Formats: sequence, structure tokens, C-alpha cells
Amino acid sequence: MSEKHHHDHGKHHHHRHVAAMFEPTITLRKNGPYHIRGKVNIVTANGKVVETAGEENWLCRCGQSPNKPFCNGTHERVGFQSDLDADLAAQAPEGYEDVCGEQDLPEGEIKGFKIGGNPVLLGRVGGQFYAIGGLCTHKQVLIEDGELDGWVVRCQRHDGGFDIRTGKAVRPPAVTAVPTYEVKVEGGRVLVSRRSS
Ligand code: FES
Repeated sequence: MSEKHHHDHGKHHHHRHVAAMFEPTITLRKNGPYHIRGKVNIVTANGKVVETAGEENWLCRCGQSPNKPFCNGTHERVGFQSDLDADLAAQAPEGYEDVCGEQDLPEGEIKGFKIGGNPVLLGRVGGQFYAIGGLCTHKQVLIEDGELDGWVVRCQRHDGGFDIRTGKAVRPPAVTAVPTYEVKVEGGRVLVSRRSS
């Protein structure tokens, strides 16, 4: 991801972008932890400071982590479920989105797109196109900077891997699958379904 820090505050969109990056944000991960980005103080009820790993933290949301307040992946094991985007998924329009030309993606390569605001990763293996969710389920980074190793998309961050055909996590530390999207090629254009499966 190319995040450039601009000091040109005269330009409205740059200013807004920078503000968004530094404002502390808590993301309610699908079936997972509280993902906290930004500088925050985490304290116990009696005001004891909880030491954190820096400006990115994952706090247990399922209530079962033995490492509270931090997440240690237990939500997976206990099958914790809470998807606060379920309504969005249901609202996603049907049909396909034209993302690129067939020639735009050479064999063995991947490319990131946004479909209805969601990051989607398109890849080509053995002449076939496949599309999966574009965010690594390990630490929620874009995997478009990773690379294809056969059928496996390898995340550049910790080398987690996802099978591009099924979305299944096949290399640790990734354990949760990414969604898959249907892909078809028509008239030299690559079309990706708006709804994931
Ligand atoms: S963020 Fe992808 S493997 Fe850790």
C-alpha cells in the first residue's frame, strides 16, 4: 500500500487522509477481536496501565482469551460469532463488476481491486482467474503486496497463505479463510461477482 504523508494541508483530500490515519480507531473484526489502531491508553478498572505492543492492538472480544485483555486467537477455537457487517453483505448488489482486461493480468500475478468498497484480490493461475477477499485475516492488511506461489497467495507481512481457489487459509499464521468471488471472462474482460461466497 502506498501511503504518502503529505504536508500540503492546503489540499483538502490529503488533509482528510492524514487525519483518518492518526485518529484512534477500533475495528470490530468479523467474528474476532477489537482491532485498535492509534495511540490509546489501556488501563484496568483501578487505573493500572496495561502495557501494549505499540499503536496497534487486538483485544479479546469473545471473552475467552486466557491472555486478556489481548486476543490470542481463541475466538476461532470457540467459534465466536459477531459480524456487524452482515447487513452490508446482504445489501451487496447482485451481478458482476468489470475489473480489468484479460491481458492486464499476466499468468502468476495478483492485483488488488475494490468492489463495493471491499478489497478484492484477483489472481491468474494456469490461465484461470480467481478472486478472493483482499484482506489478510491474520492482521487485516492488504495482501495485494504479497505474491502467488502456485495456488497460494502469500501475505507479505507474516507469510500467511490462502488458496486462491477456495479462500482457505493454508499457511500459518493465517487460520481463517477469506471470502471467494466468482469470476468470469467475457469479451476479453474480467468480471468479478459483487457478492462473495
Ligand atoms: S498479516 Fe498476513 S500473515 Fe500476518
